[in-house]
Amino acid sequence: MDTITIGGDLTVHRLGFGAMRLTGPGRDRADGQKILRRALELGIDFVDTADSYDLGDNETLIGDTVGAHEPVVIATKGGHVNLGRRWIPLGRPEYLRQQALLSRKRLRRDRIDLYQLHRVDPAVPLSDQVGALKQLQDDGVVRHVGLSQVTVEQIEEARRITPIVSVQNRYNLHERQDDEVVDHCTRHGIAYIPWAPLAKGVHSREALSWLLARSPVIVPIPGTSRLDHLEENCTL
Ligand SMILES: NC(=O)c1ccc[n+]([C@@H]2O[C@H](COP(=O)([O-])OP(=O)(O)OC[C@H]3O[C@@H](n4cnc5c(N)ncnc54)[C@H](OP(=O)(O)O)[C@@H]3O)[C@@H](O)[C@H]2O)c1
Repeated sequence: MDTITIGGDLTVHRLGFGAMRLTGPGRDRADGQKILRRALELGIDFVDTADSYDLGDNETLIGDTVGAHEPVVIATKGGHVNLGRRWIPLGRPEYLRQQALLSRKRLRRDRIDLYQLHRVDPAVPLSDQVGALKQLQDDGVVRHVGLSQVTVEQIEEARRITPIVSVQNRYNLHERQDDEVVDHCTRHGIAYIPWAPLAKGVHSREALSWLLARSPVIVPIPGTSRLDHLEENCTL
C-alpha cells in the first residue's frame, strides 16, 4: 500500500479507516474496540472520527483503544452539531475551541494530529471559523487543519489564513460531482479524504481501488462494523 505525507510530516498508508460506525445505538463497545485494534494490526495508521459521532463516545472509544504514543494518525472534526435526525453547522469560534479541547481530552493525545472543520457555518464568516482553528494550532492544541464539504473557493479562502492539509468531501465511483475539488487538491498536494467511499455500502471494495488510482492525494476512509468487511477492504 502506498503512503502519503499529509502536511509535510504525517506519513500514513493511503487506506484509512472511518470510525463512525464503531459506536452508536446497538453497537457493542468491545466489538468496536476489537475492530479498531484489528484495523491497526492490518496496517491502518490513519483513523477518522468526529466530536459529534455518538456525541463524543466515538472519540472516547478511540482514545481508550489507541495508545497515546502509538504511531497512528487520528483525524477528528468539529463544527457540525448532531441532533439525531438533523445535523446543523455551528462554527462560532468559541464553540470550535471548546470542541477541539474536548476532542483532545477524549482522544488522550497531547495534540490533535489533524483537526477538520466538519461543515462551514454560513452564519459565521469563514475567516472566523478557520481563524479559530489557526489559533488552536498556534496554541499547540492542533497540529494540522483540514476542511470538510467545501468548494474550491472556500479552500482558497481558508488557505490565505492557514495551510489546509486535507479536504474531506463526499466522493465515490458514482458520486463524482466533486471532480473539480479532487483535481484542485491534487494540484496543490492537499490530501483528499473521500467520505462515503463505498457509497455507504452500495459499492464493493473495487470502488476503493478506483479511488486510489484516481489521484495520489486520495485517502479513502471506508467504514465498517464487521471484521470480515474490514479484512476484505484491507486486501486491496
Ligand atoms: N465529513 C463528513 O461529513 C462525513 C460524513 C459521513 C462519514 N464520514 C466519515 O467517512 C467514513 C466512511 O463513511 P460511511 O461509513 O458513511 O460510508 P462508506 O464507508 O461508504 O460505507 C460504509 C458502509 O459500507 C458497508 N461496508 C463496508 N465495507 C464493506 C464490504 N467490504 N462489503 C460490503 N459492505 C461493506 C458498511 O456496512 P458494515 O458495517 O455491515 O460493514 C457500511 O454500511 C465514516 O466512518 C466517517 O469517518 C464523514
